[in-house]
Amino acid sequence: MPEEPPETGKMSDRPRFYLTTPIYYVNDEPHIGHTYTTVVADAVARYRRAVGYDVRFLTGTDEHGQKIERAARAQGIRPIELADRVVHRYHELWRALSISHDDFIRTTDPRHRLAVEKLIRRMKSAGDVYLGAYEGMYCSGCEAFYPESQIRDGRCPDQGHPVERVAEESYFFRLSRYQEPLLEHYRRNPAFVRPASRFNEVRAFVESGLRDLSISRTSLDWGIPYPDAPGHVVYVWVDALTNYVSALGYGEDPEGAPFRYWPAQVHLVGKDILRFHAVYWPAFLLSAGLPLPECVYGHGWWLKDEAKMSKSLGNVVRPGPLLRDFGPDALRYFLLREMTFGLDGTYSDEQFLDRYNGDLANDLGNLLSRVVTLIEGGLSGAIPAQPDAPEARELEPAAADAHAAWRAAFDAYDFSGALAAAWRLVGETNRFLVRHAPWALASDPSRAETHRAVLWGASEALLQAAAMASPAMPRAAEEIASRLGSPLPRDLSAFRWGLLTTGGRVAKRAPLFPRIDKAAYFKESRAVDDSKPIQPAAPEPKPAPPEGVALLTIDEFMKVDLRVARVVSCERVEGAEKLLKLRVDLGTEERQIVAGIAKAYAPEALVGKRIVVVANLKPAKLRGVESQGMLLAADLGGRPIVATFEEDVPPGTRVR
Ligand code: MSP
Repeated sequence: MPEEPPETGKMSDRPRFYLTTPIYYVNDEPHIGHTYTTVVADAVARYRRAVGYDVRFLTGTDEHGQKIERAARAQGIRPIELADRVVHRYHELWRALSISHDDFIRTTDPRHRLAVEKLIRRMKSAGDVYLGAYEGMYCSGCEAFYPESQIRDGRCPDQGHPVERVAEESYFFRLSRYQEPLLEHYRRNPAFVRPASRFNEVRAFVESGLRDLSISRTSLDWGIPYPDAPGHVVYVWVDALTNYVSALGYGEDPEGAPFRYWPAQVHLVGKDILRFHAVYWPAFLLSAGLPLPECVYGHGWWLKDEAKMSKSLGNVVRPGPLLRDFGPDALRYFLLREMTFGLDGTYSDEQFLDRYNGDLANDLGNLLSRVVTLIEGGLSGAIPAQPDAPEARELEPAAADAHAAWRAAFDAYDFSGALAAAWRLVGETNRFLVRHAPWALASDPSRAETHRAVLWGASEALLQAAAMASPAMPRAAEEIASRLGSPLPRDLSAFRWGLLTTGGRVAKRAPLFPRIDKAAYFKESRAVDDSKPIQPAAPEPKPAPPEGVALLTIDEFMKVDLRVARVVSCERVEGAEKLLKLRVDLGTEERQIVAGIAKAYAPEALVGKRIVVVANLKPAKLRGVESQGMLLAADLGGRPIVATFEEDVPPGTRVR
């Protein structure tokens, strides 16, 4: 059963819905695993807004700790510089994906530091903090200690990262005190952790006994100074978890003041960080006298080749190429539709293309083109008032059923189910058109009313389906509505038949989701990892004209995709004295480019420069190192001079 539609009325009367994503580490660029939680959160936020909630949606970045400090050191920059760089990538990605967050928290924000200090002081005044000494096996990959019994071959049990022995003075949080209160909370709130199978794991972990938790470090500087304890910084997980309240002003509010939107309705997290959210975080909150979140949802992982994606395995799928070739809505749709929320899912280009061609290009895209063409041809492009003939209502029961199923599925975090409901209506509408064949009715004046009713009914059903798809595919839904000459309905709390605007004019435009030729696509390349960006399916290259004769047409020249790129890092290629390997930012993605300019340029001299790159060149290997493009340089008697810009042009800008 869908949840009761909330009462409408003044802003403050609307029920609140505060939801969060994890905050992402800034040691690496985002991949589709990171993209996933944020896309899910965005769909939930959009859905809740559409059914009448006062939504607060938070995401952000986790910038302190050993992991970040080390990654920055490896690149020869300060941690904050690394953080600024990667945060910028997250902002770009979220914009490209139409993410509608209300706030973005960085753990280096001053407001966050105030909140962390306040939380620690509260835990201390509750008598839950003491000074002790810690010796144990620390995994900087997970930023967590593990019992020695769980270490195999010097690696952590959860992720297989290398661990090291750490011994230091540390403040401890009396987690052991919270075993019973946590179990009691779990008993009283059977939906506190979802899905249920994960709740059982969490419960079993707490039942097996909780040890006090080390919450400060003396071995690193890159963190929030521990209050009143020089030399100590706050343990990165205490720091990170506090983001959920610091973004709401917890640190800035006077002691004891209630703060808006807390507690959260849901923290969306991956299963690997469930324990931090379902055990440690509630214990900190209980200690600090704050209410607990309603639910922590631990989703599964995106796997590639049966393994979790990781840079070391080389199986990372980045969103950049998928976004470039298919657009944000196709990627969002795939992520939400393909994975059963809560379980693991596997990424493959094959599946992506099947979903794209089947659900988007065929089912939805063709329905839209068909309806628009039929109305243009048969009704001079104008949407009529709802006709009286029964065909105008024929799809109403299917739409009402779809709407009810869609709401129930969204309420239950079953995104695949919600989209399946919308697509059932798309399927029904396609069949409805085949059944009534309006192209035949058009030529029979005695059936004009039926003809109008069929076209009106199909358009109305399509608009209903677009509205249901809108939390997942906001831009495509807007576009469908606009092509049907109607605004996209905003209030989806109750089903209503008759969303179309009478007199609206349909607009015929290029296919919304052009079909991709799978064979050509696979012949060219594929989307899967960061070293192989997708190339759009291209025709066979023509043989090159003889030297000296060829004049290019403008169309030929425009086939060369020249782009502004910012050099992010640059290094020599070992064993190749002429080559430099550059990482460049192309606006939507990063690429690796190998260039024969090492004799003319020191690597560091290029970092930060804006250069021109041929972005659609087939990847090639130079001395065994892959180059995904080519930079432009003047050839001054064999000395290369790299083309740069005097003005600050954004990466990704086309050069022509
Ligand atoms: N910084 C911590 C979270 C602190 S929250 C207070 C962290 N960051 S992370 O960048 O490593 O991961 C962020 C999220 O991405 C986690 O929820 C993690 O589960 C998710 N994913 C990382 N790889 C993933 C997949 N391959 N598939 C799905 N989600 C995965 O942990």
